Amino acid sequence: MSSIGEYSEKVMDHFMNPRNVGEIEDAAVGTVGNAKCGDIMRMYLDIKDGIIQDAKFKTFGCGAAVATSSMATELVKGKTIEEALQVTNRAVMEALDGLPPVKVHCSLLAEEAIHAALWDYAEKEHISIPGLKKPVEDIEELE
Ligand code: FES
Repeated sequence: MSSIGEYSEKVMDHFMNPRNVGEIEDAAVGTVGNAKCGDIMRMYLDIKDGIIQDAKFKTFGCGAAVATSSMATELVKGKTIEEALQVTNRAVMEALDGLPPVKVHCSLLAEEAIHAALWDYAEKEHISIPGLKKPVEDIEELE
């Protein structure tokens, strides 16, 4: 694995050229933060017929949070809700060829923001999504 400093080339690419930055009107939305670093992540999911048609994010987050959210949105697009639940922070990190250990918590922001957006969707549609737990507002609770 070649890297710039401690970061893989894929992490640097998604940090410098993040995919899917922005908002989606009338989409499901989830917001989570990490009180420890003060970073915030908002994820938008456009879901139709059980498929994630589009995903976008906005963040006040560090470079690792930007890169993991960029990759996470790429991974969930076109997936079913059930498949999107399998997009864990571990899966996102693998797709990015790893993160330095001190930055692993940043990848939790992306995962939890996806869960929060799915939760929002389930509430709006009055459905329950098997395997989806009520998301936390502060990911510090997960660490
Ligand atoms: Fe806060 Fe990375 S340091 S998300």
